[in-house]
Amino acid sequence: MTTVTCIKVEKRFGEKTIRILKNRKMINPEYRVYSDREYVYIPIIEEINKEELTSILSEHNIEFQLVLCNPPRKEKKFLPQYTPSYDLLGDVIIVRRNVLENIGLNELIDTLRRLNPKIRAIYLKNETVDSYRLPKLELIWGEPVEEVIVKEYGLKFKILLGKVYYNKRLSEEHRRIAESCRDQEIIMDLFSGIGGFAIHIVSLRNSIVFANDLNPYAYQCILDNISLNKKSLKGTIIPMKIHALYFTELKPLHGLFDRVIANLPHNSLDFKNVYDVLLKNKGTLHLYVVSKNPDEIVSILRKWDNYVLVGYKKVLDYAPYTFIYRFDLFKK
Ligand SMILES: C[S@@+](CC[C@H](N)C(=O)[O-])C[C@H]1O[C@@H](n2cnc3c(N)ncnc32)[C@H](O)[C@@H]1O
Repeated sequence: MTTVTCIKVEKRFGEKTIRILKNRKMINPEYRVYSDREYVYIPIIEEINKEELTSILSEHNIEFQLVLCNPPRKEKKFLPQYTPSYDLLGDVIIVRRNVLENIGLNELIDTLRRLNPKIRAIYLKNETVDSYRLPKLELIWGEPVEEVIVKEYGLKFKILLGKVYYNKRLSEEHRRIAESCRDQEIIMDLFSGIGGFAIHIVSLRNSIVFANDLNPYAYQCILDNISLNKKSLKGTIIPMKIHALYFTELKPLHGLFDRVIANLPHNSLDFKNVYDVLLKNKGTLHLYVVSKNPDEIVSILRKWDNYVLVGYKKVLDYAPYTFIYRFDLFKK
């Protein structure tokens, strides 16, 4: 450890002294300020004129001593040659397997750990395939982690890793839809995952949201996420766990909904019967569809003659030249 000169001040003078010295560029940039129980130690550059220092600090009534000290060195900022794109979920990193086309496994782990020194685990993710849209995760560094809590706009979401669908990049879309909802609406989120849309909506609006997902782990997460956020919720969430097609049989719910959210981008066009029976006339349908060519989807939706297509919006990148779009429709 190197010994340098520090200014030692009582903790109550710490912040003020740092500010004064910083303004005069007197702090040694290679070291960190540190403290013990009573004192703060501020490393200063060696060329400082001691009389000048005394005059500046006594002008502010700051009592200090000049001492030799061993402050920790500042680590140089790590700038990797190649930064893979990755998701940080709580203290876990999820990175798509295809980044290994551009970087070796060991270098990937080293880069991610140096960029995020506090993480507990790094998982490689294979493309989401099955009907629950579950990611296949492979632990490549650290300890196995079963669940994480992530935050979206201050709201907390529990995610059971590898057991539920979650995409951090949907948080803005959750918010956008929530902002477009109104108080008193009754809303159905047919494929709700862990409850992203539902929690956002009732955090902003006094509305009722039915949050349905067939995956029992997603259903469990919705229940937990309601509890985690209960102090921030104005409206009510009714969690459900049924196959969406079964809503055609649930007659008491028919014609009840002002809005239906259908975020199952590979199959959402197959559930038209369900939207038809659940939505009120003049109700809104938010239909998420994965596509290379949105005009093709537009021409399909123009044939849904009991709906008016109001517009569409690109929501997420999915694959090269392929995106997830949201189509907004009104039921006539
Ligand atoms: C793309 S994810 C939904 C993501 C979620 N809306 C969000 O914002 O995070 C699709 C979800 O639909 C569920 N699912 C798939 N088929 C279903 C069905 N037939 N009925 C109900 N839920 C289904 C899956 O378990 C999955 O959680």
